[in-house]
Order: sequence, then structure tokens, then C-alpha cells
Amino acid sequence: MSAADPEGGAPAPAIEIAGLRKAFGDHEVLRGIDLAVAAGEVVCVIGPSGSGKSTLLRCVNLLEEPTGGTVRVAGAEVTDPDADIDAIRRGIGMVFQSFNLFPHLTALGNVTVAQRKVLGRGRAEAERIGREGLARVGLADKVDAYPDRLSGGQQQRVAIARALAMGPAVMLFDEPTSALDPELVGDVLGVMRDLAAEGMTMLVVTHEMSFAREVADRVVFMDGGVVVEEGPAARVIGAPEHERTRAFLSRVLNPAAARVGE
Ligand SMILES: Nc1ncnc2c1ncn2[C@@H]1O[C@H](COP(=O)(O)OP(=O)(O)O)[C@@H](O)[C@H]1O
Ligand SMILES: [Mg+2]
Repeated sequence: MSAADPEGGAPAPAIEIAGLRKAFGDHEVLRGIDLAVAAGEVVCVIGPSGSGKSTLLRCVNLLEEPTGGTVRVAGAEVTDPDADIDAIRRGIGMVFQSFNLFPHLTALGNVTVAQRKVLGRGRAEAERIGREGLARVGLADKVDAYPDRLSGGQQQRVAIARALAMGPAVMLFDEPTSALDPELVGDVLGVMRDLAAEGMTMLVVTHEMSFAREVADRVVFMDGGVVVEEGPAARVIGAPEHERTRAFLSRVLNPAAARVGE
């Protein structure tokens, strides 16, 4: 029984999503999602394009406003109308498919600007933390490089360092390697693997099934705005129970064969 857990029950999840719904006009994109991510857990979300994966992540940090249900992050209810959304967002790191670095700032500039403007850190402290972050993602020698001199994989690692520099409680990744040339994917996945090993709580939308299998504690398969099945990565990917999951996995794991069958 820890001090943080005086009742001796299970600790509150780092991310707790209950009955989450999101509609755009008449189109209900999320139709009642329940999902909890424990502190230190890595959960990968897989599913076809349009199934609502990005919308799910965007509802967690209120980039989209849910039409129903609740989202809690590190104990704070994001969906409470009185919540301090700016404070909650500071605890949530988000990495997108597109890196969105500032082109006029160096790698170090990119990882220090929000620390200074949002967290109010002084230049020396922000730069110390920024340099540590860039070293952590394997870019100690690129602190002074501008984004146009960095590969896509290096830019994405700067984006990860930028998110980590804010000291997030959880990290959300939305297809972080989808825009990368195949030879650059491994370095980004390697950084994410290290983060997972260090105990970061991660909710990751990805099509990288080998990453999901190796790194995820759990895999969630979404289709049509609902969770179709979830479970240990090896079970969901290796022995899916639902036909929709099997069909999706066979397309993703064997795209050439799927095309022949079309
Ligand atoms: N801002 C928006 N306005 C209207 N429809 C949207 C918006 N964002 C997403 N959608 C729709 O919601 C559905 C799910 O999208 P998305 O969450 O991006 O799916 P995924 O990430 O799984 O591909 C799609 O049909 C998409 O067109
Ligand atoms: Mg998406």
C-alpha cells in the first residue's frame, strides 16, 4: 500500500476515457469509447482510416470537444466545463504525423520556445533541458541545425524532444512515423521504445504492427467509432477474435495479397 494509494485499491489510471462520443454534424465519429491507460502503460490504437483514432486522441487534450462522455488525465477531468484546460494540456505531450517545427528556429530553439513562453522558464534552464532532451532523442549534435537541414526522422525526434521538455505526465502519438521514408522510421520508433522502457505513459496510434507487438502492453482495435476488441498485443495481433480485426490485420500485414484479392 503506497502513500499515494491509502485505500489499497488500484491507482487511478493516467488516462481514463468513459462513454466518449464525438459527432461532427450528423456524423457520429466516436460512438461510446471506454479506455483506461495505467501509469507507465503503453497502449497502441490500430484501425482503418476514418475509424476515429485521431479524433480519439484529439478529444483527450480537447483539441476536439467531445459531444458526450468524460476524459480524465492524471486525475483531472478534461471534460469538466470548469477545468483549467491550459494547465491540463501542459501535462499532455502530443506528437503528430506532421512535425510542425518552426522553420526559422534551430532544433534547440524549437525545444525551448514553449518552455519559455508557456512554462515561463528562463533561457538558461530551458536550454539546459532542451539540450538534455535533444541528447535523449539522439540529436546532441544537431542543436544548432534548422529544420530544413534535418531529415524527416530527425525533425520528428526534435518534435518528441519538444514535447518531453514540457515534462508531460502522458504522451500521445498520432501515426508519428507515417510521413517518414521507410529507412527513417526505425530511429523514431527506437526513441519511442526507449521512452516506453523509461516508464512513460503512452497512447500511440500506429500502423507499425511490429512496434505494437514488441512495445505495447495492450492493443486496441477501433472500427467505425467503437472499440471492437482490445487485449495484450500478442493476442490481438497474433490471434484476433473478431472478423473485422482479422480483415484489417491481413490488409496491414500483407498489403500485396490484399490488393490481389480486390
Ligand atoms: N473536423 C472534422 N470535421 C468533420 N469531420 C471530421 C473532422 N475530423 C474528422 N472527421 C471525420 O471523422 C472520421 C474519423 O476521422 P479520424 O479521427 O481522423 O480517423 P482516423 O484517424 O482513424 O483515420 C472521418 O470520417 C473524418 O472524415
Ligand atoms: Mg488519423
